[in-house]
Amino acid sequence: MLAGKKILLGVTGSIAAYKSLHLVRELTKAGACVNVVLTATAHEFVSPLTLKVFSGQPVLSSLFDPENDMAHLRLAEEADLVLIAPVSAHFIAKMAAGLADDLLSTLLLATKAPTLIAPAMDLGMWDHPAVRENISLLKKRGIQVIEPESGPLASGKEGVGRLACEQTITEAVMTLLFENHPPLSGEVVLITAGPTEEAIDPVRFISNRSSGKMGYALAEVASQWGADVTLISGPTQLSPPSGVERISVRSAAEMEKAFNLKLYASSIVIMTAAVSDYRPVSTAKQKIKKTGSVRTLDLEETPDILETRALGRDDQLVVGFAAETENLIENATKKLKNKRLDLIVANDVTLEGAGFDVETNIVHLIKRAGEATALPKMSKRLLAGKILEETLKIRTIPLPSLP
Ligand code: C5P
Repeated sequence: MLAGKKILLGVTGSIAAYKSLHLVRELTKAGACVNVVLTATAHEFVSPLTLKVFSGQPVLSSLFDPENDMAHLRLAEEADLVLIAPVSAHFIAKMAAGLADDLLSTLLLATKAPTLIAPAMDLGMWDHPAVRENISLLKKRGIQVIEPESGPLASGKEGVGRLACEQTITEAVMTLLFENHPPLSGEVVLITAGPTEEAIDPVRFISNRSSGKMGYALAEVASQWGADVTLISGPTQLSPPSGVERISVRSAAEMEKAFNLKLYASSIVIMTAAVSDYRPVSTAKQKIKKTGSVRTLDLEETPDILETRALGRDDQLVVGFAAETENLIENATKKLKNKRLDLIVANDVTLEGAGFDVETNIVHLIKRAGEATALPKMSKRLLAGKILEETLKIRTIPLPSLP
């Protein structure tokens, strides 16, 4: 996603400076060229040599480096984005005052690139009125602040002040970079999410553990990347992401109706919903009473919304999900073929940190051409970006015909 992007990463004197190594790794893995600039105090916490090895670029600190004459102007001009992570209370104050007494502060005055800062400090410092006022001044100047997180701090206290996790920072970088060139502009994306509820009687239903988080994350990222997004959602606790049209449904039949109405107009279809496979043959009009004996419930299959879709278009990209508890790749590949999908996201829901109602997921992406890519555990939001990115790539490669 970040191929061809130049990111200038400033690292200042904070105990969290060592985390800049993970950030450099994440950003370079996403394709970015990362130029690191350290302040004098950052040297106390992290080694320039390690950062040089991780980034593959020279690490600069001094305004007066004979090898890198005018580095502040060159770096300031070339950067697509400036990220300072971690930024200390001291450096925030320098930025607010507009000081320029070292390489990093000087190039901040010289750059026109969008700037993101990720503060890290002890909770008393983060709450101090001087820091609060400096932060609000920087925000007024258009600098984006990635708020610190709550948790255990280096001082041994608990509270807000920890550097945001590297995934949150990477996501903020992507969002800011794509504001001007959204990769999904012009796309009409249809996403289904959440469980369905199949009524047994007026108060009982058959459902599953789906929280809808994966589908909502996809809708949020797709909308941020410029798509026109419709989210057909079963019952969930989640609020619709801003800019997304949500159609709320309960049963598989309602989801199918809404899906078929929106299908033809969509250029990308992503079916994350955990549609109930069975429903009661009939729904009792009144609440079913206890009889004191064993009861059986007659079930019939629900329509397979993806498989039976009729009004699709040839140029449409279709992505499905497979939540499995055994033979992951084999079962998911079968579904990819039977449901005529371009991509299937397969997850073993028995793994910790994967599947229903958790913030992360561990999946394999399987394309129609057959290759399966195993992805490491990651936030559902970051995964949403990866799925969208892989889906778009399919457009650019010719597909083999279906057997
Ligand atoms: O066959 P299985 O339910 O595992 O298939 C999963 C994929 O098919 C998911 O993308 C799911 O949203 C979709 N599906 C569907 N209609 C059903 C059941 C599943 O569209 N009745």
